[in-house]
Amino acid sequence: MKDTAPHAYFEADWLSLREVADHQARATLLTDAASRWLAQRMSNEHHIVDLGAGRGSNLRYLAPRLTRSQRWRLIDHDPDLLRAVKREEAGLVDTAGMPITLETETLDLNAARFEAGLDGADLVTASALFDLVTREWIERLARACAARSAAVLFVLSIDGTIDFAPTGEDDDFVTDLLAAHQRRDKSFGTALGAEAPAVLRKAFEAQGYDVCLANSPWHIDAGNAALGTALIEGWRSAACEQAPKATARIDAWAEARTRALMAGALSITVGHQDFFATPMP
Ligand SMILES: C[S@@+](CC[C@H](N)C(=O)[O-])C[C@H]1O[C@@H](n2cnc3c(N)ncnc32)[C@H](O)[C@@H]1O
Repeated sequence: MKDTAPHAYFEADWLSLREVADHQARATLLTDAASRWLAQRMSNEHHIVDLGAGRGSNLRYLAPRLTRSQRWRLIDHDPDLLRAVKREEAGLVDTAGMPITLETETLDLNAARFEAGLDGADLVTASALFDLVTREWIERLARACAARSAAVLFVLSIDGTIDFAPTGEDDDFVTDLLAAHQRRDKSFGTALGAEAPAVLRKAFEAQGYDVCLANSPWHIDAGNAALGTALIEGWRSAACEQAPKATARIDAWAEARTRALMAGALSITVGHQDFFATPMP
């Protein structure tokens, strides 16, 4: 599967690299809202399901910010990433210092009955997942969450904003190629890319959810140059895949932008949206 759908799999190193920026970017008011919603839920133990959990970044951010006992189920189709979480997160605790129960499940979210993985969930969450999926899949997820009366917290969905300061030659050329690449099939069908936040809102409103969106942008400059250079390299590679005949032009752009970033002469803002929604009481 890793060979047949390479864009549906992510390097552990890349996920680790983005984790600090992801945590800094998250809209804390939505985390607080999720925490308050769970606190008034009549259950001794909160069941939280993390979709496309990867190396557990979302778990590491959220678990220490939620009160009460927590049982987490981390779902991903990549067993190597889930094994790393199991290995590293044995000692994770909640706000009261109580250990968190953690289970992992290797599951293709595109499978016929993936909804069974949501059984028992009070909160369904995901981080940096929804640009990969389709409108139909989100509608299916919304129906499954509504059937279980689960709240949802989906963070860090790209919204299509990529701002370079100062702007440079070929920024638009490359970001247009990137937007087209983001729509490529990542194993679910034609991917939503930057449309995901709007589709989430519509699908969950259709199920009667109260929804809230908030910005969670990355701010990248020489202070987090390792993430910035990896990002530019990822964009270079995606743009070259999208326009193989323009490789020389894209390489020149990537080289110039990397040099400027390292010299402290460039900052980049990458837009994301966080989404929190609660079911009808
Ligand atoms: C961009 S990564 C985000 C990982 C993690 N949530 C984070 O914030 O670091 C997307 C994750 O979705 C997972 N994924 C992609 N397609 C999937 C599928 N069809 N079924 C299950 N997981 C999938 C990938 O393996 C990867 O871990």
